[in-house]
Amino acid sequence: MRILTEDTRVGDGVLTAHLQTLAPYRNVLRAAIEDRACASHEASLALPFDEAGRAQANEIARAMGGQVRTVVLVGIGGSDLGTRAVIDALVGYADALVQAHPRRLVAFDTVEPTRLARFDALLDTHAGPEQLVFVVVSKSGTTSETIAIANILQHKLQARWGDAVAPRTVVIGDGGTELARTASAHGMRHVAMPHLVGGRFSVFSVVGLVPLALMGVDIDAVCDGARSATHAGVPAEGYGPAAVLAATLFEAYLNGRALHELFLFHPQLETLGKWYRQLLAESIGKEREDGTRVGIMPTVAIGSTDLHSLGQLVFGGPNDRTTTFVAAPSLWNATDSCDEHSPFTLSALKGKHVGEVMQAIYGGARAAYRKHQLSHLVIELDGITPRELGAFMALQMASIMYLGKLFDVNAFDQPAVESYKLEARRLLTQTG
Ligand code: PA5
Repeated sequence: MRILTEDTRVGDGVLTAHLQTLAPYRNVLRAAIEDRACASHEASLALPFDEAGRAQANEIARAMGGQVRTVVLVGIGGSDLGTRAVIDALVGYADALVQAHPRRLVAFDTVEPTRLARFDALLDTHAGPEQLVFVVVSKSGTTSETIAIANILQHKLQARWGDAVAPRTVVIGDGGTELARTASAHGMRHVAMPHLVGGRFSVFSVVGLVPLALMGVDIDAVCDGARSATHAGVPAEGYGPAAVLAATLFEAYLNGRALHELFLFHPQLETLGKWYRQLLAESIGKEREDGTRVGIMPTVAIGSTDLHSLGQLVFGGPNDRTTTFVAAPSLWNATDSCDEHSPFTLSALKGKHVGEVMQAIYGGARAAYRKHQLSHLVIELDGITPRELGAFMALQMASIMYLGKLFDVNAFDQPAVESYKLEARRLLTQTG
């Protein structure tokens, strides 16, 4: 992973001032990386170093994964986005074109009746319960969407396969909740996550590792990438890229650019963008103790598609955003060439292979941003691999922690989300 910061349009002086502000917090994060007991919120940075979590996930995958064709994942927000981001990046997008999936992730987050109704048709394609694992993830165990979906799907599973379903069910969340007790009482496997690790920071805990291992993803590589990025991102000496990314976004905010666009130049990274969107929005969008409200609006754009939807606004409208381009240029080496005798041809495309076309579009977009003096960063991945995805996520988690410090907000809570959850439960109780 490479991070290019020459086009941020943030002056060295202000950047250094923000980095100096962050210096004491760097020591907190360095200590958290060593905190194997996860005794602080920041210790989610230590999870990729925790061999026990990986061993547990790999053991579950070995025990339950043998004949699996489908991993059904129920969870929402921080409880499923990390897993879905990795799966969509590695297999989901391209495999949509392929009929025969060796193993697939079917994820349910919001309560969407049409999709739920199709679950029976999905089950029809399975010979028996050994071909499916049912994973329910909820830290609190009280999220209405997750529990409602789990309820409905479990009923359908039970109706079809009876007592064989419980041993095929994994419930992940805080230990000691009502959900944890019920799961165990019904013969399901309950896997506890570290209590102080919040949903959006939990992808390297059992929350992400168990479903990813069940899907056959190399979680050792995911964590290996995360470890490298954490060490490089929060170095023992100097500032490191996590602090630089945070300082850049903070300075942009102070200058009226309260929008951060993640421009992912591979469609298979869209869910990764949504994972980051939650991380930034939920961690920083807060009311401070003095009553002021702060936050950065995260948006997700896909290259090159969204040059055709946003380009006019970006180049011709208000200068209101910082953009981070994310690309894995080494993937643009495909050799399928444009045939100059085809009825579909342009003189610029003559003899060009598809990789060259994408390289030119990516290079053209960056050049246009520079020409229009638009603040942008570039993160280049060495391919879209478990290792690089782990690295990207770990870097962003550390960066958001730094950003919380600059904004002087608690990056780890989400009181406003809790208030919506309480209201939804109140309405459900009233209408009951
Ligand atoms: O990051 C967070 O804390 C949230 O997005 C939660 O993950 C989400 O609300 C789901 O909560 P729970 O895991 O308790 O069901």
